[in-house]
Amino acid sequence: MRKERDTKYLLFAGKGGVGKTSMAAATATALSEKGKKVLIVSTDPAHSLSDSLGKKVGPDEKKITKNLYAIEIDPQKAVGEYKEKIMPKVDSIDALRGLGLGDTFDMMGMTPGIDELAAMDKFLQYMQSHEYDYIIFDTAPTGHTLRFLSLPELMDSWVGKIIMIRMRFSGMMGMVKKILPFSKDEPDNDMGLEHLQAMKKRMEEARKTLSDPKKTTYNLVMIPEEMSILESERSVPVLRKYGITIGSVIVNQIIPSNPKCPFCTAKRRQQLGRMKDIKERFSGYKIKEVELMKEELHGLKMLSATGKGLVNNI
Ligand SMILES: Nc1ncnc2c1ncn2[C@@H]1O[C@H](COP(=O)(O)OP(=O)(O)OP(=O)(O)O)[C@@H](O)[C@H]1O
Ligand SMILES: [Mg+2]
Repeated sequence: MRKERDTKYLLFAGKGGVGKTSMAAATATALSEKGKKVLIVSTDPAHSLSDSLGKKVGPDEKKITKNLYAIEIDPQKAVGEYKEKIMPKVDSIDALRGLGLGDTFDMMGMTPGIDELAAMDKFLQYMQSHEYDYIIFDTAPTGHTLRFLSLPELMDSWVGKIIMIRMRFSGMMGMVKKILPFSKDEPDNDMGLEHLQAMKKRMEEARKTLSDPKKTTYNLVMIPEEMSILESERSVPVLRKYGITIGSVIVNQIIPSNPKCPFCTAKRRQQLGRMKDIKERFSGYKIKEVELMKEELHGLKMLSATGKGLVNNI
C-alpha cells in the first residue's frame, strides 16, 4: 500500500544565476540521503536541473537515486496541453465564428499570462500529491516567482471570466443544435468547464498550502553582492503579503580564505563586509553560508556535500 505522507514544500528564490538550482538540488540530495522521499520540480526550460544533477530529467518523474525523484516541466508544452483542455473543440469555434462570436475567442487566446497560468497549473498538480516527504521547487528568478505566486489571485478572476464566457458559449451551442437538428452530438458539452473549475480549486488549495508555515518554507538565495542583497530584501514584504514564511537565507559563492592569493583575499574582505550587511538586514532569519568552489557545483557528490550543510535542522 502506498504511504500517505505529510508533504513539506521548499522553494528557492533569488536573482538570476545566484545558485537557486544548485541549492535546491543540493538540499534535495541531502534530504534524500537522510531517508526522506524527495521530488525536485523545475520549470526552467533551459534544463538546468538536468545539468545540476548530471542526469537527464524529463517531463515525467524520474528516479535519480533511491529516494530522489526529479521532473522538469516544460512551460511551452504545458501551454499546449492547457489550451487543448480549456479551448472548445475546433468545430465549435467554427460554428461560433459563424454566429459572429469569433472575436471573443481571439481575445481569449491573447489573454495575457496564459503561459504562466499553464506552468502554474502544472506546478499546482504537484501540490496535491501525498507521495513525497518533501517537494522542492526550483523556481525562476525572484521577479518571476513573485508574479507566479500572485497568480492564484489573478487566476481566480480570470477563471471566473472564462467560466462566464463558456456558459454563454454553451448556450449558443445549444441554439446551434436546435437550428441544425442533424448536427452531430457534442461529446464535450461542458466545453472544459469541469477542468477550469478543478483548476480553480487547485489554486485555492495551493494558496492555503503556500501560506502555511508548517507546510511551506521559502529559501532566499543570494550572493554577497549589493544587487543580490537588495533584490532579496525587496522580496521580503511581498512574500509577507502572500503569507509566505522565509525558512532561511542562503548566502552562496563566498570566497574561501586563501592567504596566498592577494586577489582572493581582497575579494573575500569585500564579501565579509557584505556578510555583515546581510546579517543586519536579515537579522532574525536563519543564515546559511556556502563557499564558492573551484569547479562548478554539479553532480550528486558535490550536491550531497553542499546539501549536508543546508539541511541541518530543516
Ligand atoms: N558555490 C558554488 N561554487 C561553484 N559553482 C557554483 C556555486 N553555486 C553555483 N555554482 C555554479 O553557478 C552556476 C549558476 O548556478 P545555478 O544554475 O544554480 O543558478 P540559478 O540561480 O539557478 O540560475 P538561474 O537564475 O539561471 O536559474 C552553475 O553553473 C553552478 O554550477
Ligand atoms: Mg536555475
